[in-house]
Amino acid sequence: MIFLAALLPVARLGWKALHDGLGANPIEVITHSTGDWTLILVLTTLSITPLRRITRQYWLIGVRRMAGLFAFFYGTLHFLTYIWLDKFFDVHEMLKDIGKRPFITVGLSAFVLLVPLALTSTAGWIRRLGGKNWQRLHRLIYLTGILAVVHYWWLVKADVRKPEEYGFVLGVLLSYRVVIWVSQRRGQPARTVVPRTVEITKA
Ligand code: HEM
Repeated sequence: MIFLAALLPVARLGWKALHDGLGANPIEVITHSTGDWTLILVLTTLSITPLRRITRQYWLIGVRRMAGLFAFFYGTLHFLTYIWLDKFFDVHEMLKDIGKRPFITVGLSAFVLLVPLALTSTAGWIRRLGGKNWQRLHRLIYLTGILAVVHYWWLVKADVRKPEEYGFVLGVLLSYRVVIWVSQRRGQPARTVVPRTVEITKA
């Protein structure tokens, strides 16, 4: 059900495209919709661990991987919309645009960081890298979240309410990690923390 739900935004875009429902500027609509869903899914991915620990619903780990892969999927659509539909693979035009709108470089960095995470999301890669290294690598998602919010904040011209809301959610999710990290360093593991072995086996 979650898998199908995550496909709804792209299905909706496809439906609208087929029925002339994307308005006067379809590229803008697709860029905004795919950008929004990439960010929503990055934040959803980041919210699974706190949710799983607080509610002790350990099966949620499977949802985390799926949400992360869907974030990558929508990020790829967002990126393709830009380089293909918007710029027709014209590198010169893209470089000119990046010079004019530096927020694109920030978005690109956020997207590039998602690539190794998507590639190493399988159980085989967890084994190959070792649980600890895998976890270290996957902390890059924090940086993706920060860059994604900066990307959005930077591109809006006047009304910053939406990026502010995303920034607030990201702030809460990252603060949770800081609190857990500080309490672990003080030698008082939070009571709800799942043993690492359980986390890795279930991932
Ligand atoms: C993880 C990666 C990324 C995330 C989370 C993200 C997120 C977003 C969001 C939330 C928006 C605004 C949507 C709205 O207004 O409702 C947006 C717009 C945009 N993004 Fe991204 N983005 C990412 C990567 C990229 C990349 C790689 C590019 C291009 C190389 C890019 C280019 C753009 C452009 C051109 C816009 C529209 C700007 C405008 O309206 O003037 N983004 N993005």
